[in-house]
Amino acid sequence: MKVLVVGGGGREHAIIRKLKENPRITELFAAPGNGGIGYDALRVPLAATQVEEIAAWAGENKMDYVVVAPDDPLALGLVDKLAEKGIPAFGPTAAAAQIEASKAFSKDLMKKYHIPTAAYETFTDVEAAKAYLAANGKWPIVVKADGLALGKGVIICQTPEEALNAVEEMMVGGKFGASGSTVVIEEFLTGPEVSVLAFTDGKTMVPMVSSMDHKRALDHDEGLNTGGMGTIAPNPYYTPDIAARCMKEIFLPTMAAMNAEGRTFKGCLYFGLMLTPDGPKVIEYNCRFGDPETQVVLPLLESDLFTIMEAVTQERLGEVEVKFSTGAAACVVLASGGYPEHYEKGKVISGLKNGQLLGADAVIYHAGTDQKGGQLVTSGGRVLGVAATADTLKAAVDKAYAAAEGIAFEGLHKRNDIGARALAAGN
Ligand code: AMP
Ligand code: GLY
Repeated sequence: MKVLVVGGGGREHAIIRKLKENPRITELFAAPGNGGIGYDALRVPLAATQVEEIAAWAGENKMDYVVVAPDDPLALGLVDKLAEKGIPAFGPTAAAAQIEASKAFSKDLMKKYHIPTAAYETFTDVEAAKAYLAANGKWPIVVKADGLALGKGVIICQTPEEALNAVEEMMVGGKFGASGSTVVIEEFLTGPEVSVLAFTDGKTMVPMVSSMDHKRALDHDEGLNTGGMGTIAPNPYYTPDIAARCMKEIFLPTMAAMNAEGRTFKGCLYFGLMLTPDGPKVIEYNCRFGDPETQVVLPLLESDLFTIMEAVTQERLGEVEVKFSTGAAACVVLASGGYPEHYEKGKVISGLKNGQLLGADAVIYHAGTDQKGGQLVTSGGRVLGVAATADTLKAAVDKAYAAAEGIAFEGLHKRNDIGARALAAGN
């Protein structure tokens, strides 16, 4: 079978390496992939957002299956376009992808179907938003751009001045383009965060092993928010009792809500949860695998990923086995100095052979790398993810950090405390 994976980051690399385990897949393609993915799949020079071109290419080259990994092509309807050509794909339709693409949509959905989330109001008029803030007595408060904003459209405002600024920048200043013309202002929640990815075909919901992202750029959760500087799985805060409660109060009601809205969700639904003193609440939904959560979740998946994906597409997820190892995984992201703000690209990466670290008990997932003149160079903010599995979280973290020592490039920045909070919480 010929399979195309759309996207070009660490998450896509983790998906591709897992798909390679299935012997039915004889040819794997990635659009656009990246330098390191190039060792595992044939690269197609199309950006993930070129949905018309990708659908046409998939038709002309007779793809048997397509995995659409990033949010943008899902929101742009790539899965719908492939369906028109008779090509089965993993991922939600554009209508179902709204659960991530519009925060106003997802908040209204949760309100309508009584799914626990932060209290909120939606605004399309800047004066109304300002009046709401002027009357607010509880700080901090959270201002969110409605649309996709590369994970940067959420601002936690400590003071009225900060909140007014955030609203002005988004609604008048056009900081996130059209994504910010509508804003959601919501209550600030506290508690440990948990990421849960779940396979669903609209009939069955199968949560994967839980994980914990580390979003801030610097140790001790300081510095700016990033796309994610590292992950661990499972998340020790996510106890069996909480998991059961989430299934009953959040996961199954979300599946039913999307069905009731005529937007059946098929693919990987990502629940960003906060375990508040009042119980688990949804911080955000994503319509796709998380990055870098995928880099710790998929290495723990013992069942065959492609079998599960096909079952999701064919709405028979309930018939296949989805089994996870009882061990733990850790992924440490190696980023370009300066990320998530200004950083340089094109730095030569040393320590890798054919994209991997020889002799280390770890897998290297490439996020932002390129091959230039026979050398591997950096090409993005997040460059590599060093992932390891072990029987315990401590051992997995130690292995990942030990392996990371073998890789170098100018300006390399990583956090040195990935997993520290989880380990302190007791695992
Ligand atoms: P999001 O892009 O919605 O995941 O938000 C990014 C991050 O902002 C989350 O991972 C949380 O750490 C934080 N955040 C978002 N909404 C809230 C909230 N209502 N209360 C507290 N923190 C929040
Ligand atoms: N790790 C968070 C995300 O994928 O959006």
